[in-house]
Amino acid sequence: MRNILSARVRNKHILFRADYNVPIKNGTVTNDKRIRATIPTLKKLLARGATLVIASHLGRPEGKKRAEFSLAPVARRLEKLLGKKVEFLPDCTGSAIERAVATSKNRIILLENLRFHPEEEHNDAHFAKQLARLANIYCNDAFGVSHRAHASVHAITRHLPSFAGPLLLNEITMLSALKKPKRPFIAVLGGAKVSDKIQLIEQLSKKADAVLIGGAMMFTFLAAAGNETGTSKTEKDYVPLARKLLRTKKIIIPPDVVLDNKKTVSVHALPKNRAGLDIGPETRELYSAIIARAKTVFWNGPLGLFEKKPFDAGTLAIARAIAHGKKVSIIGGGDSVAAIEKLGLAKKFTHLSTGGGAALEFIEGKTLPGIAALHKNKPKRADKRA
Ligand code: 3PG
Repeated sequence: MRNILSARVRNKHILFRADYNVPIKNGTVTNDKRIRATIPTLKKLLARGATLVIASHLGRPEGKKRAEFSLAPVARRLEKLLGKKVEFLPDCTGSAIERAVATSKNRIILLENLRFHPEEEHNDAHFAKQLARLANIYCNDAFGVSHRAHASVHAITRHLPSFAGPLLLNEITMLSALKKPKRPFIAVLGGAKVSDKIQLIEQLSKKADAVLIGGAMMFTFLAAAGNETGTSKTEKDYVPLARKLLRTKKIIIPPDVVLDNKKTVSVHALPKNRAGLDIGPETRELYSAIIARAKTVFWNGPLGLFEKKPFDAGTLAIARAIAHGKKVSIIGGGDSVAAIEKLGLAKKFTHLSTGGGAALEFIEGKTLPGIAALHKNKPKRADKRA
């Protein structure tokens, strides 16, 4: 893959695919991390004489133009962060948009939400061609959406010389550290459902020296180990699979949990009428001791109901344990990153991935369509056109 920062971009229009899928409340961006992350690259490309035509999705508007999914608030925040005028266009394709881009006096243009067109998610060739008419070069710097075979990350690469952006390349480098990890390599997996993470658990139980389980999904494993799980979220259909995974001897399950009435109990004494909402203090200690010996840690998913005190104790303790000492620490997934930010520990980790689903699929060893498409875009032909 070729880095956009090594391309000749002077007097070129770059169709820059960003992942500006950010939270918005009452028309204001409430977390601009994803926008901030692109600023250094945008500034460099502007300084080298390029015009930026930025494209992104926001949420899941299901192919319809819906005001609450407009990227207009993102344009305002981008303008503030860049300190330069950002022209916001009300659509992303069509002759009026082509004309507006071609005649614009501004060098930074943000297109309206790609997902207002169902063709985006259908990886539609004609839609990709229309997008391609807006630029001479394409750059994918949207790692978070590169696991989707969508027109603006996949089909588009057939129509323009295509490059990778620095954020995308950095994610690949950092997440690749888990392919040959320094050992002991410990994975910490939490979150709601085993069913969402089967392949990840299977892969990590092969690669890691131990997989520490927390979050609501621990109850499916606790049931598989023969425990009563009361009214805790337990995926009965996945108990046989959890049992099979326990036989690998790599999976470690909690010895105690905190119940919805805030009492701590051993996992062997969970009452029938109660639900567990966090790992208990003995588990926190056990997991922290294992993490302390690790040279590499991968963490995805909160260990308990961390949005609600006191059920955040498990997640916070594990975040602190991973942050402590010298180790390679890779965090994938929005909720774990949110927990780390809440603690002000972000700088203590080797890498906080910007891509939830994309990071997990990468670690599972899957081919990400957006990345594969950049590999296929042959440099020779692309060089001529760029
Ligand atoms: C994300 O936030 O994970 C990415 O922007 C992808 O969004 P999606 O899951 O709606 O495709």
